[in-house]
Parts: sequence; structure tokens; C-alpha cells
Amino acid sequence: MPSHFENIMQSARTLEPMLRQLREEFHRHPELSGEEYRTSARIGEVLVDEGLEIMDLGLETGIVARLPGEVDAPTVALRADIDALPLAEQTGLAYASETPGLMHACAHDAHIAWGLGAAVILSRMQDRPPGEIRFLFQPSEEKTSGARVLIDAGALEGVDYIFGGHNKPDLPSGVVGIAEGYLMASSGRFSFTLVGRGGHGAIPHLTIDPIPAAATALAGMQTIVSRNVSPLDSAVVSVGSVHAGTAGNIIPSEVEITGTMRSFRPEVGDLVETRLRELVEGAARAHGCRVEWTTLSRGVAAVNNHPGATGLARDSMVALLGEDNVVEAVPVMASEDFSLYQEEVPGCFLWIGSGYADSLDGPGWHHPEFAANPDCIPIGAAVLAASAIGALSAQ
Ligand code: NI
Repeated sequence: MPSHFENIMQSARTLEPMLRQLREEFHRHPELSGEEYRTSARIGEVLVDEGLEIMDLGLETGIVARLPGEVDAPTVALRADIDALPLAEQTGLAYASETPGLMHACAHDAHIAWGLGAAVILSRMQDRPPGEIRFLFQPSEEKTSGARVLIDAGALEGVDYIFGGHNKPDLPSGVVGIAEGYLMASSGRFSFTLVGRGGHGAIPHLTIDPIPAAATALAGMQTIVSRNVSPLDSAVVSVGSVHAGTAGNIIPSEVEITGTMRSFRPEVGDLVETRLRELVEGAARAHGCRVEWTTLSRGVAAVNNHPGATGLARDSMVALLGEDNVVEAVPVMASEDFSLYQEEVPGCFLWIGSGYADSLDGPGWHHPEFAANPDCIPIGAAVLAASAIGALSAQ
């Protein structure tokens, strides 16, 4: 008798034409974070057609559905994010975005198709293990704010495990990356203004020039990772914008600086934030300026894969794809609000290969020419379905 996992892959293959079509439809109609109205409605249609129960959580966008299980059996949640980005698509695909300036440049269109595919596979599965399976179609991942909305609305109530995945263009389609522990970083933002007193460029002694203060601050910030964070830890401090001045002979009154900081362990995040503040304020003081902080925020926690959930997912992936197609995931310093679910229940986030084996260095996430390999559509659906079945069967 074929195993659950063989059945899952077979169902995914059978559903492939439908799922690819859905993916193309979502790709054509990208919507920004918090504005996923059409997307949510369409997801709901497919789920209702398939007989899933939509949970009444009062969501503005996003949708949560369930396949009910027996009362005493566990509940497993699967999460797919659904939002797009403000980027003009340049893929040249037949199903490219029809909304100017918006694009599924992180391939969440594929994630939606995976989630829907998993829902259809599992709802049609004959001898599904007892236990509820819940499907979280989350809005606003790109703003790392949608997970909080779903959690606060009660989407995780009664959930024992949660699984999710992100497409990974540098992994070939058909391969899954999995790792216990940190997979994606905690993301913080900073923006501040160094305020001095402007004046004539030829009469600098009567001004308080914020530009040398900015130079000192910027140089100092480079030492946070190199001199303060342990070489055995990971952190990033990147300055993304520096704005000041209008002409070569005018000393400006202000310099505005913005950037991002990333880390895995919360203690490292604390250290980075503390040193950033000290270095910027020290530089300002040394040059007679003051600092106005607009933002100094830590953002969402790091994606941290729970050992138990990861073990279950790994076993399921090996059973589904074979040992050779399950690799150790390489963490990245990008961030994801899947971490918020993991703060509530044991969870595992996977890399689901979406690349082309012969060109793994093509355009990546958030690039106007990026699109996931369509071959990953049935695989991702099977991966999510298998994660749920693996966890329910292990109980
Ligand atoms: Ni993404």
C-alpha cells in the first residue's frame, strides 16, 4: 500500500495544472501588504469550493480555514503569506503583473498556490490521521505585521505545531532546506538626524557642522559588528541612506541617516542597539551636535526552528522527497514574521527550492526580474501537506 507521503506527491502531481493556473492568476493580480482584498476573496472561493470551513476571525485581509479533526487529537497549522511588493515587474512572463508598479517579487504567489494545494490535497485525503489542520493565509508579511494580526485574532488557538516555507531561488526546485535553530534574523530599524547649525562653507568656525559628526558616527557604527559582537555570533548593521546639504559652499544644519540592523540571538540585538545609540550620541557630542532619534526599533524576533517540529518536518521531507533532496538549510539575515508564531507554538520554517538547477544565481527575491520556477508549485503544496501529516501521524 502506498504511504501517505506517496499519496501526497501523487495528488500534488494530479493537481499541478490547476495549481499552476492559480499561481499565474495571483501573479497577475499582486496586492500590497494590508490591501490583499481580491487575493483573500479568491483564496476563500477555492477553499469554500473544496469544503473547508472558513474561521470567522473578523480579518480585514488574509483568511484562515480549517479541516476539523477529532476533539482530542492535535491541531497543526500551515502558513502561507500572500502580499506583493511596490516594484515594476520586468520578467516578461506571459502572466506578468497587470497592475503597474506592483509585483509578486518575493513569489508569495507561489506560496498561496502551495497553501491552496495543501488544503485540497489534505481535504481529499482518504485516511487522513485524526486531528485538525488549519490554513493561515497571512497578509502583510512584507511589513512583518500580518502574523501579529492573525495571532491576536485567535488563528493559533488550540494549535500544537505550525509549519511554513519560503521559496528559495538558489535551491533547485525539488530540493528542501531544513535546519534546527536560527534560520532568519531579527530585523531592527534606525533613523536619526544629527542637528548642528548651518552657515557659509567659507566661515566654518561660526557653524556647528553636522557632516563631520555624521562621518564619525558612520565610521563608529562599522565597529559594532567587527569589535563588539562576538566573532561566533551573527549581526549586520547597514546604513541605507545619508541625506544632507544642497550645495558645495553651504554647511547644512542637519544630516539624516537611516539603516537596518539584524541579529539572531536577542542578546546580540540588545548589544547592537546599545552600541549604536552610544556611538551615534558620542559622535554627536564630540562635534557639538545633538541627535534626534526618529526610529530605533528592534522589529520581529528571529525565525528559530523548534527542535521537535524540525525533527518531524525533516522526517516528513525525507519520506516525501528522498534523502538526497533534503539539505541542511543555510540561514539568511533577512527577516520574517513567521517568528511570531514560533513564539507561541513549536514551529518549523523551511526553504523550498524554487530555482532552476542550471541557473541558481539568477535574479533573487525583491528583484524586478524574479519569478519562482513553476516546477516548485506542486512540490511546495506537497511539502506543506506532508509537514502536517507527519506531525499528526507522530502524535
Ligand atoms: Ni517573502
